[in-house]
Amino acid sequence: MARTKVSIPAWSSQWVFIMAAVGSAVGLGNIWKFPYIAGDNGGGAFVIVYLACIFLIGLPILIAEISLGRAGKANPVQAMRNNALNNNASKAWTGLGINGVIAGLLILSFYTVIAGLALAYFFKSLQGGFLAMDANEAQTLFNSEVASPWVLGFWHTLFMLFTLLIVARGVRAGLEKAINFMMPGLLMILLVLLGYATMTGSFGQSVSFMFRADFSQLTWNAVLVAMGHAFFTLSIGLGTMMAYGAYVGRKMSIVQASVWIVVMDTLIAIMAGLIIFSIVFANALEPGAGPGLLFQTLPIAFGQMAGGWVFGSLFFLLVVMAALSSAISLLEPAVSWLEQRGRYSRAQATALLGAFTWFIGLGTVLSFNYWESVYIFGERNVFATLDFLTSSLMLPLGGLLIAVFAAWTWQKSKRAEVLYFSNQLFQQFFDTSLRYFTPFAVLVVFAFNLALGWLWTSVILIVGIVAYLGYAWRCHQAQAG
Ligand code: PHE
Repeated sequence: MARTKVSIPAWSSQWVFIMAAVGSAVGLGNIWKFPYIAGDNGGGAFVIVYLACIFLIGLPILIAEISLGRAGKANPVQAMRNNALNNNASKAWTGLGINGVIAGLLILSFYTVIAGLALAYFFKSLQGGFLAMDANEAQTLFNSEVASPWVLGFWHTLFMLFTLLIVARGVRAGLEKAINFMMPGLLMILLVLLGYATMTGSFGQSVSFMFRADFSQLTWNAVLVAMGHAFFTLSIGLGTMMAYGAYVGRKMSIVQASVWIVVMDTLIAIMAGLIIFSIVFANALEPGAGPGLLFQTLPIAFGQMAGGWVFGSLFFLLVVMAALSSAISLLEPAVSWLEQRGRYSRAQATALLGAFTWFIGLGTVLSFNYWESVYIFGERNVFATLDFLTSSLMLPLGGLLIAVFAAWTWQKSKRAEVLYFSNQLFQQFFDTSLRYFTPFAVLVVFAFNLALGWLWTSVILIVGIVAYLGYAWRCHQAQAG
């Protein structure tokens, strides 16, 4: 096997690995993004499609991605090169790693802006800034927080510095400890807020908004968003889980860890949604308020409940920490790649990539004020374009390639060394999902969204499927022969 120049560390235990992976998965995607895209896309039907994507597509890809990391034993670019070499496949598979490294940096560039905003809200709450706040005041507060690029840029910079400090020192020392106390804390506060939500009088409406499915309202774009978000929220498709998988020892169970990740991630997203929509309906707010939703709803709740400033400060602190454990995992594929190439130290690699990403992030900062209506792609400003490009295109593409490699290219005997299921049924579900379901789902949704009209949809779909079947057939022949 090709060797990398730097030795690869290892998680100290199964539990630590699970915590780190859950820490990566649970973040702004669950608490900030999921509720607002569910609101934008009409709730119910969207949520059902999202859940289906999580369990039918997300879980198998998560297992495959971690396993490919463990088999490749390096950063995602090198790991895919190793995996390709070991299975007599083309070196072009490194493209999967490169796609991920770039997507990670692009996501991080806007992630730190939103997380920075949560940081600002933490300080606001500490100063009692939400006291007796009503819906109007909450909206005004949000508008004033994002109105100045200098202020927003300041928080973006601060949060980026936190991220870089942790990554530069090597992930585990500081992070393990933080995550151990953070996850239970976050769950507890969410439970308190859930209790509050049941008392708003609109909890029932919130439940029915989230779960009553009216499929006639569902658009293809919503399906693409739901699928993209399944990738985003589970941190799959861009090599984060591959990078973390490289540190997984032979005795650890990838399947067990993956089930934990999926369950925790889903639980937290649903709780956040129920809480936020209860507040939305109780205050006659708009569920489709977009990226500001979290920031325009929760301050109302904290402003009204007894001890609200304590809960409010704690909540935003936990959001910041959840975001931090995800942010470092967004940077990890790129940093481990640059470091393992051997020319830069970890600290240098972190600084270089951090500065680059920070700069790109300024585009998102401006998207909330001066450049709000400067459209790059369709009716999307810089922030929305980056979000679309990564979540809706790059991550599903990465996931598709992971599925194809794991299902067809990876030789059976080699795969069995890394990944084994004791349960036959699960094995079959896994194989079928990766072989057929995932590739077709991604292709179909892509074709519908990228294509202009039926003719092009059909052309893209047919070409995609023929190419796919051709590849699968070749791998099949090679393995049989
Ligand atoms: N899963 C993280 C979240 O939900 C974001 C993320 C995406 C982190 C991809 C790493 C890789 O916030």
